[in-house]
Amino acid sequence: MNFPLSRRNFATAASLLPIACTAPGKSVIGTSQTPDVPGAINPLVKRRADAQVFLHEDGWYYMTGSVPEYDRLVLRRSKTLAGLTDAEERVLWHHESSGPMSGFLWAPELHLIAGKWVMYFAAGPSGGGEDVFRIRTYAVVCDGPDPMTGGWSVLGEFKAPWDSFNLDSTSFVHRGVRYFAWAQREPGIETNSNLYIAPMKDALTLSAPAARLTVPTLDWEVRGYKVAEAPAVIVKNGRLFMSYSASATDARYCLGLLSIGETDNLMDPRAWTKSPEPVFVTCRETSVYGPGHNSFTTDEQGRDILVYHGRDYEKIEGDPLFNPDRHTRIQRLYFDGNGNPDFGVPVGNGALPERFIPAVRRTVRLAAEGARLSVSDASLPQTQFRSVEAGEGTVQLVPILKPDHCLVAGGDGSVSLVPLSATEAARFRREVGPASGTVRFASSAFEGRALAHAGDRVVLADAYDASVAWLAD
Ligand code: AHR
Repeated sequence: MNFPLSRRNFATAASLLPIACTAPGKSVIGTSQTPDVPGAINPLVKRRADAQVFLHEDGWYYMTGSVPEYDRLVLRRSKTLAGLTDAEERVLWHHESSGPMSGFLWAPELHLIAGKWVMYFAAGPSGGGEDVFRIRTYAVVCDGPDPMTGGWSVLGEFKAPWDSFNLDSTSFVHRGVRYFAWAQREPGIETNSNLYIAPMKDALTLSAPAARLTVPTLDWEVRGYKVAEAPAVIVKNGRLFMSYSASATDARYCLGLLSIGETDNLMDPRAWTKSPEPVFVTCRETSVYGPGHNSFTTDEQGRDILVYHGRDYEKIEGDPLFNPDRHTRIQRLYFDGNGNPDFGVPVGNGALPERFIPAVRRTVRLAAEGARLSVSDASLPQTQFRSVEAGEGTVQLVPILKPDHCLVAGGDGSVSLVPLSATEAARFRREVGPASGTVRFASSAFEGRALAHAGDRVVLADAYDASVAWLAD
């Protein structure tokens, strides 16, 4: 449904908009819905891999992750996602001077279990040689209600089904049952690690035999190493989704996805479905390599957020495991028409991108399909754009897959995608749109004109035309 309107009968069409009209005009940088929340910038936190970020009921975002030295467990918190970047980081616990927890400390996760803060982590002995990879899962526990100020001490070792390499544990409550999910090498299966799940009796003890959920066998799971690790869970649209990481920790690292009906028996491996293809992989267009070891959270508006690590270069000197540049990154997590997560691609360094949806035609989005601009149901990555500040209250609109291009307005009312240009025609004022909750991109070069859709085309139109109202999502 499209409204080729002039200013005169804008009010008529606007009355058809599903939302009340407000006087357009105030300039906003960033999403109009949350002008007071600072925008996160990727990488969110440098040199923190395997990040867990969650929003606790106390209103704080907590974040932990592996440090490059693998010698300590750290925790930071912030009232906003963006605030995690520079938040004070506390060291909760250092590895021991000798013994089974004196070497690497990997992939910590913080959980509130039976009213106590417990941090799980994988650890190995020091001393060099292969023994340092005698990795097992342990936990430390806080002696008070505030994990940032309490005292931490060793709770003990996770009682795993086998005395073998195990790591990357997570815990979640589903339908009143607390589960433990982790990666482990199982005797008799020639892989580095598989994924397992079991209900918990207490913080370190399972209450039933483990169910094996997946073994890395697909080509994208066994590149460099045969790995299924780093399970993370999100429940949405009637299903429980478990993402996991696969292959070596270089640019081949990627995410796979398991899913199950939320009322099905999580302990029945046959009830789970496995994506045959990876759902999140290296993206050269956005310069993010080896994205993985993710967690899920929500932003300040309650929208789903994917947290993961990735490098912004491909070639690694030496062992990737000891390369420090797996930075923590975040981005929106969208869901497709079938209710399944659409991970898209890692969006790259810089402000988080958005999608722009015509307020009067919500089945399509502004899109850059190669060098062609469109308003269509193109793939998620083709519909993600950054509003990049261009000075004097203006922005450039830059597609994430062509970060060296931007939209430019033409005197004939056309809009095209061109190599980054500082001309006036490439600058737009991001303003509150002509309908509540919408934004408008007023042309800086052509007064009274704004970015609009006309069918599947992107054009300039009268700044009061209903077609200039875009929902930023
Ligand atoms: O980052 C250290 C380990 O390497 C993590 O536990 C694992 O997920 C990754 O492959």
